[in-house]
Amino acid sequence: MNMYEAIFSRKSIRHYKNEAIEWEVLSDILQFADELPKLVDDIAIEFKLVSNIETKQGFYGPFTVKAPYYICISSEKKGDYLINAGYMMEQISLYITSKGLGTCFLGGAAPGKGLKDTMRYDYVISLAFGIPSGTLYRDSHEAKRLDEEELVVYKEDVDSDIRQMITAARLAPSSLNNQPWRFVVYKNRIHIFIRKNIALYKVMDSINKIDIGIMLANLLIAAEELWIDVSISKLDSLKNKDFKNNQYVLTMTIG
Ligand SMILES: Cc1cc2nc3c(=O)[nH]c(=O)nc-3n(C[C@H](O)[C@H](O)[C@H](O)COP(=O)(O)O)c2cc1C
Repeated sequence: MNMYEAIFSRKSIRHYKNEAIEWEVLSDILQFADELPKLVDDIAIEFKLVSNIETKQGFYGPFTVKAPYYICISSEKKGDYLINAGYMMEQISLYITSKGLGTCFLGGAAPGKGLKDTMRYDYVISLAFGIPSGTLYRDSHEAKRLDEEELVVYKEDVDSDIRQMITAARLAPSSLNNQPWRFVVYKNRIHIFIRKNIALYKVMDSINKIDIGIMLANLLIAAEELWIDVSISKLDSLKNKDFKNNQYVLTMTIG
């Protein structure tokens, strides 16, 4: 299984066997993480692998998931660091999934102070992972996701590859399965927006940006798999516009 295929069969795993993973596998995951290209080059980040196998290192919060391993990202706090962190962590999640292990993002739980103090930059988010105690994969049709009509406005007829990229994006995991992304799609560009959550706007703003980064990873992995050249930019014409229900994030230009 490659990372593209993992997009279609991954599900969040919340129950793990308390079993160690071979060091070669862990070090391969860390090497993959360290070699990942960033979405935003000039934001320094650090990954930290936490093992709970011998000593409990402490993750706290109402939505914590007990797992044998966690990988945490800390980042310089500037620009689109939250989108960048989500983008990098989703690739790690899909990589781990493709190796036959389970993962779950942890936004509702955080490492304790002792652990946070060992991190080089500001803690952003972590990913629990390990050997699942139940099934690892599911069919993509079983994923609970909003219908395409609720997320996407097609302004022109687009080819099946672009629709497939949107399907990959739609399957991305998000905190509370909130799926904050919205798309306006033309033949040669996809404008990406965040749906404003009026009630929880302030609370959800940061985590929604991580979600957007996660979704972008899926979109870019799908583009690569389908041999579609894409580039990302922010259009001034949309950046300065005030949309009632949505916040403009960026535009993906195709070809
Ligand atoms: C940024 C982020 C934070 C999350 N935080 C938690 C969490 O704290 N606890 C948890 O059990 N699941 C968490 N999840 C998992 C989501 O609830 C899950 O991805 C979503 O419900 C969709 O389910 P699926 O991943 O099985 O498709 C988080 C997901 C994301 C993307």
